[in-house]
Amino acid sequence: MFKILSKEKLAPKEYSFWIDAPRIASHAKPGQFVSVRASETGERIPLTIADFDAEKGRIRLIFQVVGKSTALMSQLEAGDEIKDVAGPLGKASETDKFGTVLLIGGGIGIAAIYPILRKLKQLGSRVIAILGARTAELVILREECKKYCDELIITTDDGSLGEKGLVTDAMKRLAQRGEKPDRCWCVGPSVMMKFCQKTAKELGWPIWVSLNPLMLDGTGMCGCCRVTIDGEIKFACVDGPEFDGHKVDWTEFMNRLAQYRDEEKISMEKYEAETGEKSWL
Ligand code: FAD
Ligand code: FES
Ligand code: MG
Repeated sequence: MFKILSKEKLAPKEYSFWIDAPRIASHAKPGQFVSVRASETGERIPLTIADFDAEKGRIRLIFQVVGKSTALMSQLEAGDEIKDVAGPLGKASETDKFGTVLLIGGGIGIAAIYPILRKLKQLGSRVIAILGARTAELVILREECKKYCDELIITTDDGSLGEKGLVTDAMKRLAQRGEKPDRCWCVGPSVMMKFCQKTAKELGWPIWVSLNPLMLDGTGMCGCCRVTIDGEIKFACVDGPEFDGHKVDWTEFMNRLAQYRDEEKISMEKYEAETGEKSWL
């Protein structure tokens, strides 16, 4: 059992838990994730380790309510216990002193970008970050990211914070002023990652993306998280989740991600009808 030490609502439908998990905290590295099962009968869902503190023996998970399992998790409170938290899983991000790096985080993907960004800054890279979301209140972890950035750019679709527009517009503006990052990372919704990769390709920039396919065991056994990278089959849970964005088969990835949408919708509608619960909004 893993105790929730604190709970915070960061934005509508977005929650942060600090969890007591000393063994995971002492091994965690940026880019890794855990597999969480909130209750005995619940499904396992992968969540990025958004932060970790080896000394205090705790890890931070930040999640968005998108369906039944995340809705159930949002009902837990500080002091409650999570049945299983397995990890750290996946390969760590390849961090080094790279010169100039560009980190692009979209929506809940900002939670995954933050530990990578912090590590790169600590290793001596010049860090530029673009955080993007639909609207101001969804741009999470602004202050945390700012602390480890040489330049922080915010974009919102509605212009309520930072520059009005998409993260790809900000990428193009950086190129116009002569920036040429030695490496870029992008984590966010799959459509956003796909378009960031397309823009990076046009600009001649290397870009790493963190793929979020469906995962079951998270240990390379079930094949559920299969993705095609440079024509080769890889399992995102053990070979990733980060891959060279220019080598990803995006069409296959997005089709596989959507394969259970009808069942997921039914499951959430049934849960809402049974419980009348809407408190995460
Ligand atoms: P459902 O209604 O079951 O599904 C809604 C959508 O969530 C699906 O269409 C699909 O896109 C995705 N999804 C559903 N089941 C899974 C599954 N077993 N594995 C992966 N995706 C699934 N979300 C966060 O909010 N914060 C994170 O830090 C985070 N990190 C992730 C790290 C990795 C490596 C991966 C693969 C995914 C991550 N996700 C994260 C996505 C998260 O796992 C899904 O949002 C969650 O599983 C949805 O479960 P649900 O039952 O609430 O929604
Ligand atoms: Fe089963 Fe990756 S989740 S092989
Ligand atoms: Mg689900």
